[in-house]
Amino acid sequence: MDLNQVYTLIQPGLNSVEAEFRRLIDSQQDFPEMQRMLQQILVGGKMVRPTLTLLAGSLYSYRKERHQAMAASSEFMHIATLVHDDAIDSADMRRGRPTINFVWGVDLAILLGDFLFAHAGETAANTGSIRAVKIFSRTLGVIARGEIKQAFSAFKLPQSYEQYIERIAAKTAALFTLATESGAVLSDAPEEAVQILSDYGYNLGIAFQIVDDILDYIGTEAEVGKPVGADLAQGTVTLPAMKIVERYPHDNPIDKIIAREDIAVNIQRALEIVRGSSIIDECYQEAAKYTQRATANLLNLPAKPAREALYCLADYVLLRKI
Ligand code: IPE
Ligand code: IPE
Ligand code: MG
Ligand code: MG
Repeated sequence: MDLNQVYTLIQPGLNSVEAEFRRLIDSQQDFPEMQRMLQQILVGGKMVRPTLTLLAGSLYSYRKERHQAMAASSEFMHIATLVHDDAIDSADMRRGRPTINFVWGVDLAILLGDFLFAHAGETAANTGSIRAVKIFSRTLGVIARGEIKQAFSAFKLPQSYEQYIERIAAKTAALFTLATESGAVLSDAPEEAVQILSDYGYNLGIAFQIVDDILDYIGTEAEVGKPVGADLAQGTVTLPAMKIVERYPHDNPIDKIIAREDIAVNIQRALEIVRGSSIIDECYQEAAKYTQRATANLLNLPAKPAREALYCLADYVLLRKI
């Protein structure tokens, strides 16, 4: 199965998520500025999280309305975290367009993020499932805590591999877990299957964020639609940076960035070291470990096209350039 076939499988569900976006924008007709802000960010995403909810939901009793609501909710939550993340990172581009904070300022970005979180919660409640709403709320707490932790660890070393994984688990894998787990729960999947799908989401999320951290070093702004080299500029030490320190423990650009010495020059040096070494391959191997863990137990799930699609997404995560 290829990625196009995955999308074909869940296209009606994704269309309904887009219809939810339009509905929200239309509901703000008395408030054109709000509409413009929403229009700025509710487009151009890869829709990975709703895809996961819809696929996980297709393995047992797919219930269109509940699953579509949850799929929309997970994407609303994701978009809210992006709006806040860009405000915190002072990022000027997202999804190939100027960010909310760039156009309207940080204060409005925080408030719009809040509005989107609220809407995500309301949409999750439309599933009628207390369990789904609980998973939703718990996830939001985990993400916020992870972002707080990341802020406290900015411009700091040493950081262990375990701390890195813990951090990306909170900020990214938690939402992937929400996406798959809620899809499973809403389809009344047996508890073992809920666990397998929840683990799939978690491990896929870790791999997805490792690749995002790689792309921050080797991607181009035109492809990824957001600034590259941004993590180091924020003092965020990710896997490629950790591997530089490991190789050159006594003299490396990462320590200098942490000490806030010639940041721009040292970011450039770090990018060059990473691009001219096997560090990227090693990081991809690390990501591949997690996609393998993600798919390890899928054979215990029903042999449906959605299961094939989950394998396909695991491959895609390692190949993606955007
Ligand atoms: C970006 O997520 C934030 C991360 C967790 C890396 P995506 O790469 O899924 O962003 P969109 O939704 O496609 O813009
Ligand atoms: C994103 O992590 C995690 C969120 C909770 C939004 P990043 O900071 O790496 O995401 P990008 O690279 O800005 O999309
Ligand atoms: Mg960011
Ligand atoms: Mg990133």
